[in-house]
Amino acid sequence: MGTLFRNGTLVTASDMFQADLLVEGETIALIVRNLPSAGHEVVDCTGKYLMPGGIDVHTHLDLPFGGTYSNDDFETGHIAAACGGTTMHIDFVIQPIGGTFFDGLRTWRKKAGKACVDYGFHLAVTDLRPELMADIPKLVDEGVTSLKLFMAYKNVFMVDDDTLYRTMQVAAEHGMIVMVHAENGDVEALLTPKLLAEGKTDPVYHASSRPPEIEGEATNRAVVMAGMTGCRLYVVHMTCEESIQALARGRALGYPVMGETCTQYFHVTVDEHLGAPGFEGAKFVCSPPVRTPHDHEVLWSAVRDGTLAVVSTDHCSFWYDGGHGPWQEWAASHPDGDWHLFEQTPGNRRPGKELGKGNFAKIPNGLPGIEDRMMVGWHLGVNSGRISPSRFVELHCTNPAKIFGMYPQKGTLAIGAEADIVVWDPRKEHTLSAQTHHMHVDYNIYEGMRVTGAPEQVYLRGRRVVEGGDWIGEKGKGRFVHRTPHGAIL
Ligand code: URP
Ligand code: ZN
Ligand code: ZN
Repeated sequence: MGTLFRNGTLVTASDMFQADLLVEGETIALIVRNLPSAGHEVVDCTGKYLMPGGIDVHTHLDLPFGGTYSNDDFETGHIAAACGGTTMHIDFVIQPIGGTFFDGLRTWRKKAGKACVDYGFHLAVTDLRPELMADIPKLVDEGVTSLKLFMAYKNVFMVDDDTLYRTMQVAAEHGMIVMVHAENGDVEALLTPKLLAEGKTDPVYHASSRPPEIEGEATNRAVVMAGMTGCRLYVVHMTCEESIQALARGRALGYPVMGETCTQYFHVTVDEHLGAPGFEGAKFVCSPPVRTPHDHEVLWSAVRDGTLAVVSTDHCSFWYDGGHGPWQEWAASHPDGDWHLFEQTPGNRRPGKELGKGNFAKIPNGLPGIEDRMMVGWHLGVNSGRISPSRFVELHCTNPAKIFGMYPQKGTLAIGAEADIVVWDPRKEHTLSAQTHHMHVDYNIYEGMRVTGAPEQVYLRGRRVVEGGDWIGEKGKGRFVHRTPHGAIL
């Protein structure tokens, strides 16, 4: 006995067609017209779209960063993801300085013990000591086939060009993919103290410290190295014309280079959001910074013409109004700053964005969005006619699976694929708000945005986990996805 999704319109990256879809166990068993009920549980999908579960390949759950930890963890972040139609994500394991990749993996595996949706790991290389070079290919055996390097955040996560180049050489040999956060961290580290010394301390100056030129320069540098080494490159969270041009140039030269943007970079602006009065702008501090309406249009063009392959979130949520409770005392007794051990209650929060009051450079960088990605992407992209439903699926579900080595197990509706399915109601209206979202954070960057199109039901490997937009699943059932190397170059 299976679950029969009857009379929906299936949307894949290539097609839209009406059919019945049968799930047996954890996988899709049949896609056909007019399938008899035959004792199956029937889900009436008349007027609905059936899409593959969303895959968000750029998230930071429970990340130690900016003097605190990102707030959503592998339970709250997962439930929020599912409620928004995302059934899988890939999180960044951070190699501890002085430690090994496997130390990082151990830490993240513990964090993921309570997973509610499926997940994978990228490995962020922070400290590539010579003895660790041989460990890079060993990650493939662990199902971790993507490496991340930060060209920004000097003295925190940033690596030098030597490390980037050597990593690409090894990655290329083993079919792994290198991801970069492309901003010139050395230049940012010169601009920031100058701005602060001039009294420019408000959140909006975060953008002045990280102008588009330094994103374009770093993107070009990584693209050139990818061309030289033959390494697959994936530039994360691209925001502006300068970096899109650098990527497009590499692609025109035939280099194996790809890019992603994140939903917020289509909508949030320096002037209206980051420059909001008082400290409000801190809600929108992320790196690279949010840009201008002109850049939004550049990104839409890049999404349409295929320069950009994926839309993710870079979900990294911090309280706007954190620091409640006796956290200073707690911090004094925990000099290692492991905020994970700090028990949070509504009256006892870990620090958040307020750490940067009076100094934009101390605002923890990152935005919430894992729950909103599919709804905002659909609303701004499909409802406006900028992209088709199939292109939407390609950007949010299928390309992530192809590039990161898990297709067709994930990312499509096909016989034999895992039954991660979103029953999407294209007419459902929903207002995005911190009052109603499931993310563990006290603000929503799209607050008040009324979207049309939202998930009605969400299935994870054949099990219904969301009904009417709310979580009804069993916690702890999320599974690690072991990925393969030699992913698609799109
Ligand atoms: O501001 C951001 N993007 N925070 C998360 C870490 C990163 O750079 O991706
Ligand atoms: Zn980044
Ligand atoms: Zn990130």
